[in-house]
Amino acid sequence: MAGNKTFTMLKPDAVSKGYTGDILKQITGSGFRIVALKMTQMTEQDAKTFYEVHKERPFYGELVEYMTSGPIVAAILEKENAVDDFRTLIGATNPEEAAEGTIRKKYAASISENAIHGSDSDENATIESNFHFSGREQF
Ligand code: TYD
Repeated sequence: MAGNKTFTMLKPDAVSKGYTGDILKQITGSGFRIVALKMTQMTEQDAKTFYEVHKERPFYGELVEYMTSGPIVAAILEKENAVDDFRTLIGATNPEEAAEGTIRKKYAASISENAIHGSDSDENATIESNFHFSGREQF
């Protein structure tokens, strides 16, 4: 059965451009409940660990540099079928391929600076949530 939680980060480009409020409003307006929320900045080690699955990819160094370049907003979201429904809401990795109305279509600058993260499985949603939030920060 699909889980009911997912993890997201509003990435440095979206936060620095002042899109935090509008993006959170679209998320809650789409039926997701915020059950954890914080603004923080990832260290180089944080970003390397978080994106370790991509460590052999050519964009890894650039991705780590970008994700540590400024504050992010991390959140855990609750909704039935959360992982898949949230991936639909954010749109394709490359904003040029993202559907109209999706968060990446509206707010992402490019494939590398693409405004928002959404977990790709229930297992990763749990791992990523626990990476960013302690037990008593999750409601
Ligand atoms: P990926 O997990 O493939 O995408 P998604 O975030 O949609 O799950 O990639 C992780 C991040 O790596 C992606 O959000 C942006 C960056 N990235 C690039 O910079 N260039 C690329 O060609 C790809 C595939 C990803």
